[in-house]
Amino acid sequence: MESSNGGGWRMVMVLYVAVSMVGSGWCSKFDELVQPSWATDHVIYEGELLKLKLDNSSGAGFVSKSKYLYGKVTAELKLVEGDSAGTVTAFYMSSDWVNHNEFDFEFLGNRTGEPYLVQTNLYINGVGDREQRMDLWFDPTADFHAYSILWNPRQVVFLVDDTPIRVFSNHENRGVAFPRDQPMGVYSSIWNADDWATEGGRVKTDWSHAPFVATFRGLRIDGCEWAPEAGAPAELRRCGGSGWGKEGRYWWKEKAMEALSVHQSHQLIWARANHLVYDYCNDPGRFATHPPECGK
Ligand SMILES: *[C@@H]1O[C@H](CO)[C@@H](O)[C@H](O)[C@H]1NC(C)=O
Ligand SMILES: *[C@@H]1O[C@H](CO)[C@@H](O)[C@H](O)[C@H]1NC(C)=O
Repeated sequence: MESSNGGGWRMVMVLYVAVSMVGSGWCSKFDELVQPSWATDHVIYEGELLKLKLDNSSGAGFVSKSKYLYGKVTAELKLVEGDSAGTVTAFYMSSDWVNHNEFDFEFLGNRTGEPYLVQTNLYINGVGDREQRMDLWFDPTADFHAYSILWNPRQVVFLVDDTPIRVFSNHENRGVAFPRDQPMGVYSSIWNADDWATEGGRVKTDWSHAPFVATFRGLRIDGCEWAPEAGAPAELRRCGGSGWGKEGRYWWKEKAMEALSVHQSHQLIWARANHLVYDYCNDPGRFATHPPECGK
């Protein structure tokens, strides 16, 4: 999984475990990348699938074995079928330092036939409150879809089947905090959140429909794997510096990844115009001062 150029470098980890290159090329050996983070008996390996189960005794989750500074992570995920009201399935990256950073996909369940909502959020230096919500242009419980987070020194992009649905650009020059100095793990979990998730908490989890199961088919982590033993200053230089992107190894930092392409910009505009349900940037009642990253 790891190679060295002889100088003690840790080279870029391309950590998808392709069981079969003939298929989609996605990772199926989840246990090489992640481990259960809680409720081991609710984390089910079933052939090439990994299932997280929520019932009246517990939810469940997994966490990557390594942390990464910059990269792109993608989960191929099929959400809880039928009645998922009250449940939340999350796929996210998070650091575990004080004043942590976090990038969230949270899938808010709903009653049978009613639409899931996808909430995204970012915590930067311990501060969150950056929620956006969208519905989707497909039924996310009917089949697997790819949910990705791209993170490089210029932007954080949330993508659904390669369509960008949200961009958080680096506006440090305007004094806006940007996540850049804490390595992050990759996480997923399912839990009961019927105090807020569905229609603001009015619809409760119907436990007679348990267990609620979210199914992962693939997980891909392309990132600069953090080597704690090397020390933070060295790792910040190695993963965060500009050099390696030019060599094509840290491809998520290459020039072309610093902003959306024209095509992607059009996709983003389309997704927001047709599917945006809530944006904290347009919620003045909630913030005494307009969030600076939101522009005017
Ligand atoms: C939890 O669910 C199981 C299986 O449906 C049921 O037998 C049990 O009584 C439930 N427990 C509680 C505390 O509701
Ligand atoms: C659930 O369905 C209702 C009715 O269609 C909708 O208003 C709501 O936004 C949906 N999603 C959530 C998470 O409540």
